[in-house]
Amino acid sequence: MGSCATLIAGDKKIELPIIIGTENEKAIDISKICKELGYITVDPGFANTGSCKSAITFMDGEKGILRYRGIPVEQLAENSTFVETAYLLINGTLPTETELKAFSSLLTEHSLLHEDMQIFYQNFPERSHPMGILSSMVNALNSFYPYLGESREERINITVTRLLSKVRTMAAMSYKISRGHKVEYSRPDLTYCSNFLHMMFTTPVRPYVENPDFVKALNVFWILHADHEQNCSTSTVRLVGSAKVNLYSAISAGICALWGPLHGGANQAVIEMLETINKNGGDVTPFVKRAKDKDDPFRLMGFGHRVYKTYDPRAKIIKSVCDRLLTATKKHDPLLDIAKKLEDVALSDPYFIDYNLYPNVDFYSGLVLRSLGIPTNMFPVMFAIGRLPGWIAQWKEGQEDPERALIRPCQIYLGPKQRRYVPIEEMDRQVAS
Ligand code: CMC
Repeated sequence: MGSCATLIAGDKKIELPIIIGTENEKAIDISKICKELGYITVDPGFANTGSCKSAITFMDGEKGILRYRGIPVEQLAENSTFVETAYLLINGTLPTETELKAFSSLLTEHSLLHEDMQIFYQNFPERSHPMGILSSMVNALNSFYPYLGESREERINITVTRLLSKVRTMAAMSYKISRGHKVEYSRPDLTYCSNFLHMMFTTPVRPYVENPDFVKALNVFWILHADHEQNCSTSTVRLVGSAKVNLYSAISAGICALWGPLHGGANQAVIEMLETINKNGGDVTPFVKRAKDKDDPFRLMGFGHRVYKTYDPRAKIIKSVCDRLLTATKKHDPLLDIAKKLEDVALSDPYFIDYNLYPNVDFYSGLVLRSLGIPTNMFPVMFAIGRLPGWIAQWKEGQEDPERALIRPCQIYLGPKQRRYVPIEEMDRQVAS
């Protein structure tokens, strides 16, 4: 037997197994506490809770490490494509050339969308947020594509490729319809990322011309977002999936979780914050001051992370992508100057140093998307497309876990003790007296 931790509660004592992960992460298995001691554990925000055992992604928040299936994200960003990385996350190993070709052609084949789905897009109110539209449409896939295959493996493969391919079409379609433009479908001669840019930006008067710098930047953006272990949206996908709902619905729930400004909505919030600073003359100091004021709910968006207590490794890469892209396109974005100024001021301020608040992936990613011509309200959608392989891999792992169970946390009840039901006439009398 391995080592144990001893827990004494009241007059009872229990030995709890210690679990050591591949990278020497230490955990205490508390799964038997409730049954044997009659106690539950309380951990608001789950900062001390390991919700599962996983072989997909490793993060070290102190050292700023991120690896997918053991491979450093820096190496993937440099050498891989989003499709290859998606294959790696979902299947556990890098594909051979034949496997990658087969996977890519399946993605092209499944990129079409049932024409009736376009009617839905046309009927969302004009100001609808693209994340709300995307989560509704992903959930609707189950109605439009009820056939999920015969075997379990076929079911998983078909749903996975449909999702990866159609989500990209859905995002571009939503943009085209919002502009009153004709919807474009993917071209078999283009890669996944290039096809997305084609579906977004080609018009009858200005056909899409591939720009390799844009395609590389988009590949890196999506690779960096592809997985991040048990974050809020991924935990949502696992939790909803544990009720045995179909994959489309579990992903739709994940999209809703990602939408929040503390999570995937932060990339949009960062650009809005930088625009406000710009409109106010470009001085970052009042915003840094506000972020430190505990009576002001304002936070520096794109700063801080639950796990990273150092520079987010994704932020380092995306910052250099942003610099490279603007140099290649010979464009100047005043918001980049403001972002760099903000970073310099914040990182030399004792508040940010003491709280370990460093730029996260969202701080520079919006600037990359802006350079690609993506509208600001679509930034969280871009995050969602990138996170899809991670959600799928984590959902699959959850479904295949021999220890799987319905995810159902407990609570400490602090409400009133049992009391009598009061008929409404009596309530009226009580309030009147
Ligand atoms: N600006 C100012 N103060 C901050 C910030 C910030 N960006 N982030 C955290 N703090 C302070 C916070 O006020 C709190 O102070 P105190 O303990 O005195 O009340 C302390 O740091 C801890 O904050 P927390 O919210 O309890 O800690 P957390 O680990 O749950 O926070 C976070 C993580 C990402 C929610 C938070 O840092 C934040 O709100 N950042 C801004 C939003 C953002 O950029 N989100 C994107 C995250 S990266 C993309 C992704 O993977 O989702």
